[in-house]
This record gives sequence, structure tokens and C-alpha cells, in this order.
Amino acid sequence: MNHTLLSNGRRIGYRSDGKSGGLPLVLLHGFCEDASVWDVFLPFLKQIRLIRVDLPGFGVSDPALTPGMDVYADAVCAVLNDLSLEQCVLVGHSMGGYAALEFAEKHPERLAGLGLFHSHPFEDGPERKEARRRGIEMLESGKRDLYVAQLFPGLFPEAYVKSRPEVIEALIQNGRRQSAEGIAAALEGMIGRKNHLDTLRGIECPVLFLLGALDTIVPPELGLQAAVVPSLAELQLLQGVGHMGMFEATEMCVEIVAGFWEFCANR
Ligand code: MLT
Repeated sequence: MNHTLLSNGRRIGYRSDGKSGGLPLVLLHGFCEDASVWDVFLPFLKQIRLIRVDLPGFGVSDPALTPGMDVYADAVCAVLNDLSLEQCVLVGHSMGGYAALEFAEKHPERLAGLGLFHSHPFEDGPERKEARRRGIEMLESGKRDLYVAQLFPGLFPEAYVKSRPEVIEALIQNGRRQSAEGIAAALEGMIGRKNHLDTLRGIECPVLFLLGALDTIVPPELGLQAAVVPSLAELQLLQGVGHMGMFEATEMCVEIVAGFWEFCANR
């Protein structure tokens, strides 16, 4: 079911599916995507209360007034409050993981589990920042469609792009429905994000690291380095998988995420 709420006069969209009660599993999408990126998980997760948020500037959520991962974390908080939910297991894909870490820093008591799905706690290096600035320039000069078309094939291993072009095409089409303003704000927010190693050091809930061995966007080494930091971590390194495990290895990723949720729910 689709919902919208107003937070500081801005609309935030989210979807609820699966079971009506129990510990919720909240899924955050990555860059240039929206909650629909998790559609592939739905048929497998009917036994869990599932909430998928459109981060500000994506899907039906209004762009935030200022960019930043804190704004995304606030949106997650607004959704939990809207549903009167005290705690959740929060899993974020890539940029959604950066937002989830920000949420973990601000609201640790609301987490029963934190999942970094092809994500990591480190800040951008100078080259990545520069590439993001070039992206913002492209978006500001009206080249949103070109930007999005170049982005998605690079998230998958080459063999997958060749064998499943329809998956990449659907992501490009969906990316083109996102506003240039929202995409640019996300780039700005990722440039400005901080290192969250200390957040992981202090975290009390279990942390899941799901990594793709062929991921060139979030190289697995970053996750491996971070996975030794929390007091309780689960590490899953998927061989043959790039940055988009929800498509590349759907059932395996569902099994890992559902297993992690179950572990957190039964502690
Ligand atoms: C994402 O998939 O969310 C982004 O590519 C992450 C990033 O660029 O760091």
C-alpha cells in the first residue's frame, strides 16, 4: 500500500507490504532509484512487515530544502513516527546505507538491526567527489537523461548487462522519472557525508554487511574493513555479484536479509 506524510511541509512517500504486525523491516533504495527497486523482494517477504521509503527527492517524495544524509535519516524517522513504530531493522542499499548509518547515529535506540547492502561507512575520496561534481554540472545543464543512461550499466558486471539488458533498461527508465533536482541533491549529500566508523564502533544492534565480490562502486574491501568494527556483525560476500544483488542474486539476497531480520527479531 502507498502512503504519503507531510514532514515540515514536505511530502514523504513510503510503501507498506507484507505482514501487518511484528518487527518491521525498512528498506532504503540507492542513488537514482526509489522504493520500487525492492519490488523484486516482495513475493519472497510476505511473512515480514515491510516498509519501503522513497528518500527525499526520489519517487513521490519532495526534494529536501537542503541536501544531506541527515535529511534522509529524518525522513526515515518521520515514517516510523507516522506508523507509531518504536524500532525496526533498517537495511539500506548503497546510498541508502549511507542514510541508514546517519539514522543509526541519530536514533540508535530505534534500531533492532542495521543492514549495509552494498554499502560502507567511509566518506568519499577526492576523485569520487570530483566525479560527483561533474555529475551535478551535467544535471544542471539539462542532461539528466544522459546521466542516468550512463549510470546504471556501470552498476552491474558486464556479463549481466549483456544477458539481462531489460533489467538495466527498466532502471534507466525509472531513473529518468526522478527529478534532476533530487539527483543533484543526492550527489551533494554524498559529497558532504561523513565517516561513520565511530557510529559502527558504538552500535549495539547487529550489523549486516552484504557485499558483491565484483562490486566496483562499493568495492568489497571497504565492507570487509568495516565489518570488524561493530560488536556483532554478519558478513556475506557474494561471489559473481556486482552492486545490485537484489537483481543479480535475488533469492540469495532475500534469504540473507530475511535471516538477518529473524536473528534481530528473536534476540
Ligand atoms: C548508489 O548506488 O547508491 C551509489 O552509486 C553509491 C555511491 O555512488 O557511492
